[in-house]
Amino acid sequence: MFTAKCAMQNIRNVAIVGSGQMGSGIAQVTASSGFNVMLADVNKKALDRAMKAISQSVTHLSKKQKGTDKEKSDFVTLTMSRIKTCNNVSTAVADADLIIEAAIENIDLKRGIFAQIEQSCKKDSILTTNTSSFLLEDVAKGLQDKTRFGGLHFFNPVPVMKLLEVIRSDDTSDETYATLIKFGTAVGKTTVACKDSPGFIVNRLLIPYFFEAARMYERGDASMTDIDEAMKLGAGHPMGPFELADYIGLDTVKFVMDGWAAKYPEVQLFEASPLVDKLVAEGKLGRKTGDGFYSYKK
Ligand code: 3HC
Repeated sequence: MFTAKCAMQNIRNVAIVGSGQMGSGIAQVTASSGFNVMLADVNKKALDRAMKAISQSVTHLSKKQKGTDKEKSDFVTLTMSRIKTCNNVSTAVADADLIIEAAIENIDLKRGIFAQIEQSCKKDSILTTNTSSFLLEDVAKGLQDKTRFGGLHFFNPVPVMKLLEVIRSDDTSDETYATLIKFGTAVGKTTVACKDSPGFIVNRLLIPYFFEAARMYERGDASMTDIDEAMKLGAGHPMGPFELADYIGLDTVKFVMDGWAAKYPEVQLFEASPLVDKLVAEGKLGRKTGDGFYSYKK
């Protein structure tokens, strides 16, 4: 059986902590690239949902591959066989060479997870976060060994999006960073580097862009559908800002912006939007709840 191996430091076993949309997507691409995956979540139902979504996505992607029906179904079986699930984080990370934390954007939760990981993992495991908005130095605050810590920021939907932002803090060692770049390439992504800064490259541009679109709509300059259409046809984006914000989730978008506004009050671009605040307060979080900027209930 083909098993992938990453140069620099040897990576075979990857533990992913958090089985939401991002965690399950990361598990999928990691397993389909030949690594052994342990997908961990304290919520058993979330793990079941993740395995179902991964199976559907791998099956869909296999149909697009060249080869016989048997080769396609072998690819699905092999990929799924590489993914194990576990609802205990300490157990899940015990054998991992690389650990990717993909929990929700809550700094205390992430710090707690890393404290647990550091107690239970091997001395030479590499620890990473998929944070979309926090500084690595904030996430890593409680870690004893920060040299083996870095950032791997994937994009949604992970099996489709080709980019991986690979981030290092001032403490990340050269060996850790080189291994993360190699791993990114091994899972089929194009890697880009960015300093440990709010939102790295993509979210630092994307999140203020969503809010600028909301302000444009709030001022009555243009309708939501026209703004979306304009950015698709005039700028070549696959989705307009309102469609994409609904796709990511308005709670996530608001959470990121509120965090930045509190931490960097001098940056005007990080201003809240009354419209986003209202929608989130009403539980209209985008596609996942059936309503956001648009309604998806039909
Ligand atoms: N697994 C496997 N395949 C998937 C998939 C998934 N989860 N989601 C979509 N696809 C496939 C579809 O099956 C389809 O394949 P096909 O052409 O062979 O049938 C292909 O991708 C295109 O999908 P659709 O036909 O359903 O629809 P679109 O053509 O509109 O594409 C999209 C969907 C790929 C989501 C595209 O609209 C897109 O690229 N949107 C922008 C996404 C984006 O910007 N993501 C980044 C968000 S920022 C982020 O994630 C950072 C975080 O920190 C917040």
